[in-house]
Formats: sequence, structure tokens, C-alpha cells
Amino acid sequence: MYPFTPGSYAPRNGWYVAAFIEEIGEALLSRWILNQPVVLYRKADGTAVAVEGRCPHRHFPLGESKRIGDAIQCGYHGITFDAAGKCTFVPSQTNIPGVYTIKSYKLVERGLWAWIWPGDPDKADESLIPTLDEIGFTLPGMIPSAFYSMHVNGRYQLLNDNLLDLTHLGYLHGTSIGTPDDAATPEERDLNERRLSSRRYMYDTPQPPLHMENTDYRGPIDRISGMDFFFPGFHSGIGEQRYPRDHARAGDVIGTSRVWHAVTPATKTTCNYFFALSATTQERLDRARISLKPVLDEDSFATEQIEKIITTMDELPPELMLKSDTTAVQGRRILQAMMDKERAESAATTKERDHEPV
Ligand code: FES
Ligand SMILES: [Fe+2]
Repeated sequence: MYPFTPGSYAPRNGWYVAAFIEEIGEALLSRWILNQPVVLYRKADGTAVAVEGRCPHRHFPLGESKRIGDAIQCGYHGITFDAAGKCTFVPSQTNIPGVYTIKSYKLVERGLWAWIWPGDPDKADESLIPTLDEIGFTLPGMIPSAFYSMHVNGRYQLLNDNLLDLTHLGYLHGTSIGTPDDAATPEERDLNERRLSSRRYMYDTPQPPLHMENTDYRGPIDRISGMDFFFPGFHSGIGEQRYPRDHARAGDVIGTSRVWHAVTPATKTTCNYFFALSATTQERLDRARISLKPVLDEDSFATEQIEKIITTMDELPPELMLKSDTTAVQGRRILQAMMDKERAESAATTKERDHEPV
């Protein structure tokens, strides 16, 4: 499905953010992840777990059910599953049929996030999760903080596209975090097997309006704006502002920040969106938590409006691409290749199984 080949919408074999760590507690947390209902909670020993959110009996949502110790008792007829997904109790009979299990997912807590692997558990390699160093989480003097956990009524790729094309900053966010120079400045790219990076280096450029909330300086600045996309759904952003060449304090840092956007498909046409930020002082964090909410709402708005158009039109004309779409197109190709590989592997497994002697 758009913008991927028919039937594809997101890779399954990849680490996605299921929740901020701080969202997972004693209470059952329901969340759709790659078109599956999932329940997250923390066991009595503090370990966070993720299990399937659908009771195999009559499909009742297990996230709307009850915790009995570390187990979940289905709110409909009382069938109970432990934290590993094994059925431990069927109220109407003593025999527990072997098919009565629910899926349990690999879940890893790292940084501010709980990372889930929705695909083949045998391929869940923890070294594929972005390291805290490579996302700038461990920079000295910076305070990382979870900001917003949002649900967006638009497909996950629309938000990836948004984050892979920061030319939108000067227009969609023209009253806050961007200026027309975000679009007019050429981008530098770097690709490796884990991530796709883009950077813009702007010199003697106007300050975006929101950047001025942390400084009295109103003149032009030098600015770096960039994003590292870790496949398949994590974007680590870098922002840095310095006094420009002709200023008495030329080269001194005015402000620096790291932002983290995690995009996880909820259904095929909706997504979970987690935004976090790191700044040098608590005061800056507190200000940003308030001032950035309308900015994230603008991205959600754009995503939801586009989703409406692409799902409603009888026939969607091809997009008219620009040079500035290179990063987004590259990102889409990488995700499509991951999905094609998964499809080929699953077709090979099915073929192998079909040819096994009975
Ligand atoms: S639907 Fe869960 S026990 Fe019947
Ligand atoms: Fe944006």
C-alpha cells in the first residue's frame, strides 16, 4: 500500500518503540502495534513485558482485563495467561488445551524507551537497537526527557516521510522551529546498514522564532539541523546554534538539543508517535515541553490530512518528486527492501514446509 508495493506497509523484523519506559507500570497498557493488539505491563519484580492483547477464546481485549499477580485474567470468561503467554487457568475445565497460549514479545528497555520486536523472535538481535551513544543520549551535560506519547490517524510511513524531509520546517513550522533556509540549504547524506543520516549546515541564517525563547540574541546565527533515521522507525535529530562569523562571540554555542522521534505502526493506517528531547537545563526542557506541543500537533495534522486524501481518492496520481525528496525516497527504498526480504524468506519457509514428507 502507498507508498510501498501492494500488501506492504511496514517491516516486521525490526525494533520499534512500544512505549516510553515511564508509561509501563502495574496497570495493563493496551497498544496496537503492527496491526496486533498488545498489552504491556510491569511484573512484580519490575520486568516490563509485552504479550498479545487478544484472548484466543472469543477475541476479548486482554488489555481491558484484570491482573492476577503477574498473570492476566481475561475479563470475559476468566481464562488466565501468565507473563510468558502460557495459559494457567480455564475456569470451565481442568484440562488446559495446548493451543491456549498467547504470543509474548521480546521487549528491551533502553534509554527512555521499551523496544519491541514484532517479527520472527529468532531474528531479534538486540545489537540492532540504536545504541545510546549513537543517538546522542549520553552527551555530557544533557538531560533526556520523554515528552509526548501520541496516537496519529495516519500511516507510519507518512511520519517517516515527514522526518526524512525537513524542508517542511520553514513552512509547516514557519512560526516556530523553521525558516525558509531549512528548505533552501542543500542536504548532506550518509548511509550505513543501520541508519540514513542527513545534515544541513546553515551560515549567517535567521533564527527560527522558537529558538529565541532561550536567548536574548536576535541576530543571524550559524545552525546545524539534521536527522539520523535508524530503520525501521526511530529518528534521532540534532540541532545546534552558534554565533556567526562576524559576531564578537563567533563560534560560541547558543543552544544545542537532541530530539528523538519514534514512529511505530499501530494499524495499517494509524501509528504511535513518541517524542522525546534532551536539553542542557531543566528550565529549557520545561519551556520546550510547552512550546513544542503545537509543533508536533502540526505534524500530526499534516499526516492525518494526507491520510484522508490518499485513502479517499478513487485513484491516487503519482507524486511529483523533487531533488529534496532524495532522502525520503532512499528511506522508503530501504524499508521496501526489508519488507521484500521478509516476504521472500516467509515464502521460502512455506515452500520448504509444503515439501516436507508427511
Ligand atoms: S474471551 Fe477471553 S475467556 Fe472468553
Ligand atoms: Fe515537523
